[in-house]
Amino acid sequence: MDSSVKIDIETLLNHSLAEEVTSDINKDVIERRAFSPGKISIFSQGYTSLEDHPEYEFSNDKEAEKVLPDIINNNVQKIIYDPKKNQKDKLFFNKARNIGIVFSGGPAPGGHNVIAGIFDEAKRVNPDSKILGFILGPDGILEGNYIEITESLVDAHRNMGGFSMIKTGRTKIDSKEKIALSKKVCTDLNLDALVIIGGDDSNTNAAFLAQEFKSSGIQVIGVPKTIDGDIQVKTDHGEVLSAISFGFHTAARGFSQNISNLTNDASSDVKYWHICKVMGRVASHLALESALQTHANLTFIGEELADYVDTERLKEAQKKGEIDYTAFGITLRHLSRVICEAIVKRAAWGKNYGVMILPEGVLEFINEIQIFIIKLSKIIADYNNIHDVDFHSSFPGLNEKLDYLKRLTIGMKQENEIAIWNLRDDELFNQLPTFFQEGLLIERDTHGNFQFSLVKTEKIIIDMVKEYLDMLIEKGDYKVGIEEEYFRLTLKQAGLKPDIFGKVLFRNYKENQFLLVKKSIISKKTLKQMLINEQLLGENEEVPEAVMQIFNKSVPKFKTQLHFYGYDGRGSDPTLFDCNFGYSLGMTAFSLIANGATGQMAAIKNLEHDFDKWEPFGIPIAKLMHLEERKGRLALVIERAVVDTNSNAFRVFKALRGDWLAADSGKDRFRRPGPVRFTGKSEEDRPITLTLNSIAQ
Ligand code: FBP
Repeated sequence: MDSSVKIDIETLLNHSLAEEVTSDINKDVIERRAFSPGKISIFSQGYTSLEDHPEYEFSNDKEAEKVLPDIINNNVQKIIYDPKKNQKDKLFFNKARNIGIVFSGGPAPGGHNVIAGIFDEAKRVNPDSKILGFILGPDGILEGNYIEITESLVDAHRNMGGFSMIKTGRTKIDSKEKIALSKKVCTDLNLDALVIIGGDDSNTNAAFLAQEFKSSGIQVIGVPKTIDGDIQVKTDHGEVLSAISFGFHTAARGFSQNISNLTNDASSDVKYWHICKVMGRVASHLALESALQTHANLTFIGEELADYVDTERLKEAQKKGEIDYTAFGITLRHLSRVICEAIVKRAAWGKNYGVMILPEGVLEFINEIQIFIIKLSKIIADYNNIHDVDFHSSFPGLNEKLDYLKRLTIGMKQENEIAIWNLRDDELFNQLPTFFQEGLLIERDTHGNFQFSLVKTEKIIIDMVKEYLDMLIEKGDYKVGIEEEYFRLTLKQAGLKPDIFGKVLFRNYKENQFLLVKKSIISKKTLKQMLINEQLLGENEEVPEAVMQIFNKSVPKFKTQLHFYGYDGRGSDPTLFDCNFGYSLGMTAFSLIANGATGQMAAIKNLEHDFDKWEPFGIPIAKLMHLEERKGRLALVIERAVVDTNSNAFRVFKALRGDWLAADSGKDRFRRPGPVRFTGKSEEDRPITLTLNSIAQ
């Protein structure tokens, strides 16, 4: 192109092609906005009703019975098509209503479709209904900060990721004053119903608001949301009413696309171990799904580590007639050893590279760290409960925090109190690297949760791995296997006899396709000495270049790249599954409202099956609650579901992970899930975890 004939910038900017490719509204956005998610057949047909299903049983928590008396006896309700609705119920169903919606907690793909589902159904039933969106999460309720959600606003966000339409926040409505203020704001706005789209803590909030609002007639409905996948509902008899929350599939697919790209890169330039920490808070659902999606070489599931028993240590103690309680549960040191073992195994087959997945909450399942997290959370909560200034403002720097902990130890010792932070804790804590101490002391979130996403878990683990691998190199245990053919060719080309050198250099010559240099050869010096001893070299001769080349290739360099996948997947545009799921939940929430429910959580049963089997339900939130320690106190919350190590998904992963490690002569077994999509024949229709868990005898 002749650069001297330049088109002037104004003309260039106004050119239709330039306008098209620089527009904020690209083709994908246009397609997404125009896409109509699937509709469960009972919706949009006319009237729905709620059918009570008391056979779905949950054992009530005594405290929940006490504090949530008006909603604790709600039944599980199935939403059914009802062409014969009576006149009175029709009037209620059809009335023009004001519905408030709020997002709470981290974004999850599919959230905008929940709003679209509520909006479309509410307007279909009565175009005079108004949908109001509270801005920036629960703060929007407390501050009366809201907007009216219009058709054009909904259309701009259909099938799009994020919660940007009305934004979100993590404020908890957790005091009498805040609940009273929320009631006033909702009453002043003349709301008929409030829909809270949030995680376990936010649905807990929804239950308390439903109880408080009951007398005012304002209905409160929860919609379970979190990429973490830890809101799952099973009855006491094991019936699955809600297998996963929306956003999980997209986030897992987003992470998996990135991880899969890394498997491509790793197996091409064969020099890095990629360490991928994936979000998910405590539970490892996202790590498990990412493993199933990508077949990464090594994946750790926190829930499995918690069950670990060091049988060797147990046996040693038993010989002395003792029980070694430290043998139960895994330590950081032991975890790093397990990782090293896998790395060494792969290297022996010439694969000194790979991809590893670590769940962000793995620390929660590691003995000594879990104890630190619990103790420090209690210390911080206790401090906050009795002081006007919170712990982190009182002790902004690490040294100040460490001083406080030390003073606590001494104080408790003097007072003869049972020390929550004893000298041993202090000693062990002070041995941790500074960045990790800072991580463990990090500010807890508004719900009192430890903020796993802010701790560099992968770094602490990999630093320990590096240290141990160095020891294994010194001991001659960590070597890169050399392919026999390559060895023979290299030596032959140099005019040397492979069989003569092979026997001297390798510990498994002629026994394996990949040859391992003898343990005692760990340096050029030891190599030379070995060749001299075997009379293949004179004292003053240099090691032949071809032999040096083989030796150098056998010396491993453990090079890593650390990655954190979380906010990226969480902000992704939704998959087809989450587009359908979010939209169906929105329609379910509206049906619950239009049929008078309150204190119920919208749910879709049969998510693990084809879309035409999906069934909308309302689940009593109060029945899902139990007492748990939060911010140093017992609080009623919805129990989080962690990975069930007896589930099909986990058992399949466990059965196949040895193969995915590919510590053998074969190729890596990586799987390519491809990019996140919402249309197209190759787009999968549900998470792999769900598919596996749906398989029965
Ligand atoms: P929710 O539980 O609110 O859905 O958020 C999930 C999550 O993305 C976790 O996976 C992660 O640990 C956490 O939020 C990060 O929190 P923050 O957005 O405050 O950094």
